Amino acid sequence: MDKKYSAEPYRIKMVEPIKETSRQEREMLLKNAGYNPFSLKSEDVYIDLLTDSGTGAMSQEQWGAMMVGDEAYAGSRSFFKLESVVRNITGYQYFMPVHQGRGAEQVLLPQLVTKKGMYYISNIHFDTTRAHVELAGARALDCVIEACFDIDLDHPFKGNFDLDQLERIINSKGKENIAGIIMTITNNSAGGQPVSMENLRAVKQIANKYQIPTIIDGARYAENAFFIKQREKGYEDKTIIDIAREECSYADIFLMSAKKDGLVNMGGIIAIKDNEELFNKCKVTVIPYEGFPTYGGMNGRDMEALSVGLMEGLDERYLRHRTDQVRYLGDKLKAAGVPIQYPIGGHAVFVECKRFAPHIPSYQFPALSVTNAIYLEAGIRAVEIGSLLLGRDPDTHENKVSEMELMRLTIPRRVYTYKHMDVVADAVIHVYQHRHELKGYEFVYESPILRHFTSTFKPIGGLK
Ligand code: F0G
Repeated sequence: MDKKYSAEPYRIKMVEPIKETSRQEREMLLKNAGYNPFSLKSEDVYIDLLTDSGTGAMSQEQWGAMMVGDEAYAGSRSFFKLESVVRNITGYQYFMPVHQGRGAEQVLLPQLVTKKGMYYISNIHFDTTRAHVELAGARALDCVIEACFDIDLDHPFKGNFDLDQLERIINSKGKENIAGIIMTITNNSAGGQPVSMENLRAVKQIANKYQIPTIIDGARYAENAFFIKQREKGYEDKTIIDIAREECSYADIFLMSAKKDGLVNMGGIIAIKDNEELFNKCKVTVIPYEGFPTYGGMNGRDMEALSVGLMEGLDERYLRHRTDQVRYLGDKLKAAGVPIQYPIGGHAVFVECKRFAPHIPSYQFPALSVTNAIYLEAGIRAVEIGSLLLGRDPDTHENKVSEMELMRLTIPRRVYTYKHMDVVADAVIHVYQHRHELKGYEFVYESPILRHFTSTFKPIGGLK
């Protein structure tokens, strides 16, 4: 393999066997799943690239740390250990654990919505973030730079905020109606694209001018820090933790799904810089939803694993390999002409299926078609992020049309090898070379809410 991709910085000492199936079996399995990959059993999947969330492998240090977990209901030793790690990274005073990212959203986001008709603004809200903004009675507005939608454009920070648009929104809605600005780093929905330090700093300046609180959605804050080190002038010689600290310095609140860069299978974080009143309000809310504020939906052993995982997630050699492995897959696809979001982001390769299968209209879900085809080809499970996920307009009931029809090949952390990436690349390239054979899909059953998870389909005109 080319030296430009670093090898795994670890040895593997526990393995989980994976089953291989024949094409004939996969045809049956997918049919039985209603042509919806979410309904496949994971044991019928050869390489599972559905998500990088909670699917990573823990280290020997993490498994070892679990043995000393303190399971006290209140004030456990494991809580104080995790609190000191979070304080060390963020520089913030207040911390409480939650069971995962959406738990943090559920507790924190409603606190800043003080009246009707308020807005959160983000570079792009992740789906659950948007849902919690709406459940809190506010509305979610996105303002990512236009470059994000041009997949071929080589821009180092496609996750950035459009700063002019941000100020325009604040002025048109009125600063008193903005509940907060959410900086999603990396920007998952834009293709795992990073946000530059310069952009974070500028967003903070705008927020200060209008006295609006800033929130980091830091699910992949360490990958973002690594990209800043690689791509932004002045950061080449800084350590990842120092870059992460600077990221945090531009926010007042840090929310995290620890299932990503925390290198654990379950867990989440709320950290607040210095607003004691807000922290006290969160403490009141967290108890009925998540649990007592010193465990908040986690147990002692999981807090121990997270204390170790957060630091491992900031290790530069780990991050280099992590991003190299994703880039290796993306480079192979790009070299074969497969349309992907470029430069390749932190946690996944996003394939643009509008261009992959232009003969399939959005309402026949081109990215579902490609996703199903790679399962049939090689037992690989990816995920549709396009018009199927976007759903229908609640008023007109028309199918909404997504700006991009993406298939996300999401790489779990420390789980698969480069050889697995070769298998994935070969399958996607094979399907690309036979793309004219791809069929659109129609509903057999359309679920009324969050339809992508549970609907069933059939290929229009059959598979062959
Ligand atoms: N924020 C971002 C940017 C995310 O990517 C996710 C989850 C969340 C918040 C919610 O965190 O799942 O722990 O409740 N993303 C997963 C994904 C589900 O597949 O991208 P959670």
